[in-house]
Amino acid sequence: MKIAITGTPGTGKTTATKKLPKKYNVTHLNQLVEENKLYTEKDRDRDSYIVDIEAIKQKTPDKGIVEGHFSHQLDIDRIILLRCHPTELRKRLKNKDFNQQKIQENVMAETVDVILLEAMQTGKTINEIETTNLKPKEVTKKIQEIIEKQPKQNTGNIDWIEQLNEQNDTQL
Ligand SMILES: Nc1ncnc2c1ncn2[C@@H]1O[C@H](COP(=O)(O)OP(=O)(O)OP(=O)(O)O)[C@@H](O)[C@H]1O
Ligand SMILES: [Mg+2]
Repeated sequence: MKIAITGTPGTGKTTATKKLPKKYNVTHLNQLVEENKLYTEKDRDRDSYIVDIEAIKQKTPDKGIVEGHFSHQLDIDRIILLRCHPTELRKRLKNKDFNQQKIQENVMAETVDVILLEAMQTGKTINEIETTNLKPKEVTKKIQEIIEKQPKQNTGNIDWIEQLNEQNDTQL
């Protein structure tokens, strides 16, 4: 079983999965990409890499957890999707020192469910975790529960679309 832990940048994937017991064999994809230069180019304007998905597929183990905002694009069996309210996500991204444009792009992506839609296109079972008011260790616990119990899909309960009105006036 290979499980993707995905979600918009800043939702807390790396923080939560770093606390998982060793036996879960977590691959942190951002780290893997940087260490092995698994990108085709760097998009300087957007301060991000264009990652080489095929090369990443070759480098990840067949079993275990793959963690990163494109992990759902690998050959995986299930998806755990971390969500975060746009206002809290903005704070988390500021903590990460993302530039203003990257913050905007990611807050917008979270607001309009970009990763959820991508994840749904895989046809795999998805479990969403609403992390806004959870401590990292609580997110870790929920991830562990999903891995162990493999519950049925739970999507569609999280809806940030109202936030578009708020953001439109000021920041978008
Ligand atoms: N549950 C949480 N509550 C509050 N802050 C959090 C939580 N989880 C993570 N953070 C903070 O939010 C920021 C983003 O977390 P993290 O780097 O783990 O996100 P990520 O999903 O791995 O992002 P990326 O896709 O860019 O790697 C960090 O500063 C982290 O300390
Ligand atoms: Mg990360």
